[in-house]
Amino acid sequence: MIKIGIAGASGYTGLELIRLLEGHPETELSVLTSETYQGKSIADVFPSLNGIVDIELQALNSEILKSCDVVFLALPHTTGMDLLPELIKSDCKIVDLSADYRLKDAGAYPEWYSLTHTHPELLPQVVYGLPELHREKIKSAQVVANPGCYPTSVILGLAPLMKTDWVDLNSIISDSKSGVSGAGRKPSITTHFCEANEGVNPYGIAGHRHTPEMEQELSNLAGKPINISFSPHLIPMSRGMLSTIYINLKKNLSDDDLIEHYQNFFKDEFFVRTLSKDIFANTHFVSGSNFCDIGVKVDTRVNRLIVTSALDNLVKGASGQAIQNMNIMLGLEEKTGLQSPAIFP
Ligand SMILES: NC(=O)c1ccc[n+]([C@@H]2O[C@H](COP(=O)([O-])OP(=O)(O)OC[C@H]3O[C@@H](n4cnc5c(N)ncnc54)[C@H](OP(=O)(O)O)[C@@H]3O)[C@@H](O)[C@H]2O)c1
Repeated sequence: MIKIGIAGASGYTGLELIRLLEGHPETELSVLTSETYQGKSIADVFPSLNGIVDIELQALNSEILKSCDVVFLALPHTTGMDLLPELIKSDCKIVDLSADYRLKDAGAYPEWYSLTHTHPELLPQVVYGLPELHREKIKSAQVVANPGCYPTSVILGLAPLMKTDWVDLNSIISDSKSGVSGAGRKPSITTHFCEANEGVNPYGIAGHRHTPEMEQELSNLAGKPINISFSPHLIPMSRGMLSTIYINLKKNLSDDDLIEHYQNFFKDEFFVRTLSKDIFANTHFVSGSNFCDIGVKVDTRVNRLIVTSALDNLVKGASGQAIQNMNIMLGLEEKTGLQSPAIFP
């Protein structure tokens, strides 16, 4: 069995990793960390695990994690930045769910994260873990930077267009909505019940940290610099994410043309589903699953394409994608442990 370590097991993505890995036939949970709950059983932190997982939480420690075959870093930004150089000295494979190693340009960290990267020398060897774009590199990677949830929804929603001459690449706008679990378990003013309930809260407008990640990957696909307008919103649900993306068309195309193009682009991708004509991505039908659903529609009056892209921020947007990456890194069938459909209703 493959021994798994989860740094940050008491968080939302940590719990989701545990839930999904419990259904994975090749893995066994070995090391789980938490500072707040060290010494307690994970089942006392999350009673949903009672009778299923009874592992004592330990303080974060690189030596203990090095004994694992695969380590998931489910830690807040910067917490694992200096841990990675230690971990890569061992043979373990690492999937980092934070943004610490996602951007290839170290110079982007001061601008977007207000910090100086402490290990820029490692950025070239860390593979950006969007399997649908980087599967070959992920296969041989020791470290994968798991993409952000918003970037996963937006990049997958736009990827089929970036090499075509059908659209005006200077006109991309993404209006995106996220459930509150996207902000993690640690409470803050914006995630307080009274602040988040019964309201829709735009935040990070024209400056959200996920913007450079989207632009990095979209620019790579297009072969030239791409800038986008990205407007995220917090909405009063626990999990789920929907990006509605607008892009001007340069020629007359029908819904059928675009659906056929998207279906061809993703024809070998189990986890990305192009929806039929006039069916739009809906968070209900991806919740709890590793699928990203994409709907496309031409607004013929204004000759603009509207793409809807839905996923579960904790699954395809985080822990499910992290396990998908692990499967690829270990040469396992990519879908292993991840085939369940959405929980609906
Ligand atoms: N939530 C999402 O939808 C989502 C999606 C994509 C990516 N991500 C990224 O995934 C990472 C984890 O997110 P999350 O939502 O799971 O966060 P979370 O719920 O706040 O959990 C954070 C975890 O890190 C631990 N931790 C916090 N500070 C620490 C420290 N100084 N030293 C050691 N451990 C520490 C916490 O343990 P204790 O508090 O028990 O000590 C907890 O287990 C973040 O980088 C986030 O940006 C999250």
